Amino acid sequence: MRIDKLLANLGYGSRKEVKGLLKSGSVKVNDVVVKDAKQHVDPNKEIVTFNGEVIEYKEFIYLMMNKPPGVLSATEDHRDETVIDLLELNDQVYEPFPVGRLDKDTEGLLLLTNDGHLAHRLLSPKKHVPKTYFAVIDSEVTEEDIIAFGKGVTLDDGYVTKPGELTILKSGIRSDIELTITEGKFHQVKRMFEAVGKNVVYLKRMTMGPLPLDETLELGEYRELTDEEVELLKEYQAE
Ligand code: URA
Repeated sequence: MRIDKLLANLGYGSRKEVKGLLKSGSVKVNDVVVKDAKQHVDPNKEIVTFNGEVIEYKEFIYLMMNKPPGVLSATEDHRDETVIDLLELNDQVYEPFPVGRLDKDTEGLLLLTNDGHLAHRLLSPKKHVPKTYFAVIDSEVTEEDIIAFGKGVTLDDGYVTKPGELTILKSGIRSDIELTITEGKFHQVKRMFEAVGKNVVYLKRMTMGPLPLDETLELGEYRELTDEEVELLKEYQAE
């Protein structure tokens, strides 16, 4: 990769501004000053420094966020805050995007990456990646609902869902449940409950494929996935 592109990608300025930085002699590759913007570097093998500080470069970034309510799962929006706005600038420079969507009022596990290939595999309807949600329902959830969800329910547009695994954690005039689904239709959990005449009043995603939400993350906080977690995701081949 060209050195000016690498530095621009990392947020050191526009290609033009980076040219100026290079001219000033503040960039070295393997301890040799590089002034030519066209010079190619391999950031995985060569040591690039800026004013003596080693520049850490990675092609891909993988983040897990505990999405707070009130924030959009989008990269930009002219009115609302997005999950990208919650990222530090030195993570934003990698241009990550959310892997799928959570509704504005939904909380919990959201992956963000710039690895389009992995995101595509996790979202592919063919892969049936399971996602588990915790929800509070406005009424009593019953054994009949478990059976109905286990068969698949008909949504408002006539679509019949794949079977979902419903577990009642607490039943009453308000119920706590967990639901695992392998699809990602628009508002799916809310619409599945509407199909049995009930409403979701709180929704939080707890898992995506092999990854559980890191419960040490406060709402709005995020962290990079560990190498092991990235490997788990890559090896994960749900069918
Ligand atoms: N199902 C929903 O209804 N909303 C979400 O945000 C995720 C799944």
